[in-house]
Amino acid sequence: AAVEKGNFRHFMQKEIYEQSETTARTITRYVNANDESVQMPDLDGVDLGADSAIVIGCGTAHYAGRVAEYWMEQYAGIAVETDIASEFRYRKPAFAKKSFAVFVSQSGETADTLAALRYCKEQGLKTLAVVNVPESTIWREADARLPTLAGPEIGVASTKAFTAQLSALAALAIAVGRARGTLSSQEEARLVHALMETPRLIADALKVEPEIEVIAQELAQARDVLYLGRGVHYPIALEGALKLKEISYIHAEGYAAGELKHGPIALIDEHTPVVVVAPHDALFEKTLSNMQEVNARGGKLIVITDAAGAVACAEIAQHIIMVPACDPFVAPLVYSIPIQLLAYLTAVQKGTDVDQPRNLAKSVTVE
Ligand code: G6P
Repeated sequence: AAVEKGNFRHFMQKEIYEQSETTARTITRYVNANDESVQMPDLDGVDLGADSAIVIGCGTAHYAGRVAEYWMEQYAGIAVETDIASEFRYRKPAFAKKSFAVFVSQSGETADTLAALRYCKEQGLKTLAVVNVPESTIWREADARLPTLAGPEIGVASTKAFTAQLSALAALAIAVGRARGTLSSQEEARLVHALMETPRLIADALKVEPEIEVIAQELAQARDVLYLGRGVHYPIALEGALKLKEISYIHAEGYAAGELKHGPIALIDEHTPVVVVAPHDALFEKTLSNMQEVNARGGKLIVITDAAGAVACAEIAQHIIMVPACDPFVAPLVYSIPIQLLAYLTAVQKGTDVDQPRNLAKSVTVE
């Protein structure tokens, strides 16, 4: 049956609002709620106990992979390398003996990602696909698969597929931690519990739309926008910038907050809004000092944070977008919501074709 927009103005908006459901569906697939453990299907020879892993994708799928890199290193102690498929396939990558390769793709048909998968198979690596479209080429050619259960995604700018990828990759990180013996069963239960809470937090985060609407009116006037984040939120900043440029055509750059002083700070003035992804976590104080640097140079700060973070930056932030406090493990899922809404509502202000942005294709099946 054809997918309908229902009461939503755009497919992208509908897909943003489906994320409480689509993450719940995906998480449920990979956890056992009774004993709060991860359940991974038989992975057909993919050894999660390996010493290293490679995570490959393009665009938004690559950024999901970048989040997974932080998760797998932090919670599973496995050395992870992430790359963009179009770079990876031509750079003659070297592999550690005991490693596996993960390919992240909504469509399962992206030409560069598929070529990278075939390359790894030729090199004798076991491959694992995190794919949304069943029976797609990447799905079929990988040794094993972890389906994302986002359902059909129509909007060219990926939203619910991204958070479904994060859901599956979060479960994978826990499974790798278990296989490698780096997570105790109590730690596994804590992480699984946090993951199971996430769909509810996403539903709460979606309630910030009215505040973001006001901010979007200002953002729509900007020529350039900077996005900053640290640690696992650096890829979320990259994804936020990608989303904004894709659908509003405003130039946006994502930067690691600590890198600000090495270049992008030269761009800061009252005309360049800076969106900061800054939950009140272990790195918050560091990011706060980056915010102070922006503020001191007349830059306008739009800070996405929680209640504790909001108190700490109340004096310097032009706008605060407040999301529920959450376990740092699942924060990338929760903070994805405001960055998507910010891009979406800014594009609506600008009157662009949100679901079919110019020059972009939903799936790029040629090189
Ligand atoms: C295209 C789409 C992006 C997507 C990327 C990777 O560029 O416009 O939204 O992130 O391809 O697509 P995939 O289907 O492999 O996730």
